[in-house]
Amino acid sequence: MTDKKDFSHILSPIKIGPVELKNRIMLAPMNETMSGVNGEATEQMISYFAARAKGGTALVCTGAIMGTKLASEFVWGRNLHLFHQGHMQGLNLLTERIHYFGGMAGAQMTIGFGRQGHSYDHHKLAPAPTAGLPYEVTMPSLPKGIAEGWSIAEHPRSWITGQMTREMTIAEIHSEQKEFANSCQLAVVSGFDVIEIHGPHGYLEHQFLSPLSNKRTDMYGGEWRNRKRFLTEVAEQIRYACPGIAVGCRISAEEHMQGGLTEEEMIDLAKDLEAIGLDYISLSDGAGYEEGGHLIADIDRSKHYPEHGEAFKKALKIPVIVTSQHDPVKIDKNIADGRYDIQAIGRQLFIDPEYVNKLAAGKAKDIVRCKRCNMCLIRCLTGLTPACADNPNFGREYAMDEYKIGPRQAHESLLPIGMLTAPMPALDRPWWKKEISLINDFFRPVQGRTARH
Ligand SMILES: Cc1cc2nc3c(=O)[nH]c(=O)nc-3n(C[C@H](O)[C@H](O)[C@H](O)COP(=O)(O)O)c2cc1C
Repeated sequence: MTDKKDFSHILSPIKIGPVELKNRIMLAPMNETMSGVNGEATEQMISYFAARAKGGTALVCTGAIMGTKLASEFVWGRNLHLFHQGHMQGLNLLTERIHYFGGMAGAQMTIGFGRQGHSYDHHKLAPAPTAGLPYEVTMPSLPKGIAEGWSIAEHPRSWITGQMTREMTIAEIHSEQKEFANSCQLAVVSGFDVIEIHGPHGYLEHQFLSPLSNKRTDMYGGEWRNRKRFLTEVAEQIRYACPGIAVGCRISAEEHMQGGLTEEEMIDLAKDLEAIGLDYISLSDGAGYEEGGHLIADIDRSKHYPEHGEAFKKALKIPVIVTSQHDPVKIDKNIADGRYDIQAIGRQLFIDPEYVNKLAAGKAKDIVRCKRCNMCLIRCLTGLTPACADNPNFGREYAMDEYKIGPRQAHESLLPIGMLTAPMPALDRPWWKKEISLINDFFRPVQGRTARH
């Protein structure tokens, strides 16, 4: 790799909806399993994210956050939760730390794991589109190291098959959607600049889309437009509930399963999401835990990702994010060639949080490259927090002074930017009552003094 290259495309700013990103690198949403027993943000987690923001990453995104109480009861290991104000305290500390170090904060929000979720009470049935359809991992399709990793610990073996499922009723779907919209508003108040609706990887949103996991015969199942309904309704509701921030959606570009979702269908879905007013589409790949190989891609199974980016970009006007390209020379060229707009990087930012700073400083050859050995993931699967042989500081950032927060700086907003940009509607207000906007009436006059931009 030559250090003469200026990486001007990676380092150029871009707008997603109302949010300006200072460069094209996003921390891919990864559940780094550093949350606490009740789904709260911990100091270990906050300082891990701080290191990625300090390293120049424009958009620092959380892993999937369980956005309803029901979702929080069927998790996979440990996950962040956000469905009441108690969760906001830690998440606000998290967004403040990201902003302090100059990054934008993204919350990846999900309505749940559906059939991929596991309750601590193993007698419970996982809420899903269809009853009696637990998942089962296809071991040969697993990413490198994972099948071996799974076989060394007895406890995680229970995750190779899912819990038995029950069919969610239509009334339950509607109440879950409403609670989720409220939780996304709590994310805005917690200081997130971006909400990413989680739609890939065989989670509940994806399960409704796929004919492999959705066997319903009502308005949420059957033909394609009915299977799209759950996710497109969620997108409409979040767009309405959170007008002041960027809202995007991550989806799998295709399922890689016989009879599963095709790229053509997923492009059609992406066009619907654009028409609803979403600000970006982020592409991952694969059917989820049954077909893990495209979710946590090895080098071969990530090669086609830019082609997906190109196909979606041709069909859309909003920015397209693609994941799992780690080589900055290739990323810069892909962006220059218009194949996609933003690069989401996962494991490569576990190993080298200074990735962007090194590119900006002309020190690209000092970037420590990820070998995709998946030790990080294996540790998560066993119930530990991740670690990396080539980055001894990973997971120990909490012990390092350089990632601590200091006195409030001029660029930090006193009120969340998402609240100042546009007032959020009250979701429970009776229709005959007048909307009162506290932000409009009382705070907007001081916006100039409080805004970060
Ligand atoms: C430990 C771990 C946890 C992950 N958790 C999530 C998640 O919560 N949400 C999501 O959309 N993708 C998740 N992913 C997938 C990543 O976002 C990313 O798409 C994948 O790791 C491939 O990119 P990479 O090669 O840059 O790591 C996770 C990946 C890893 C390794």
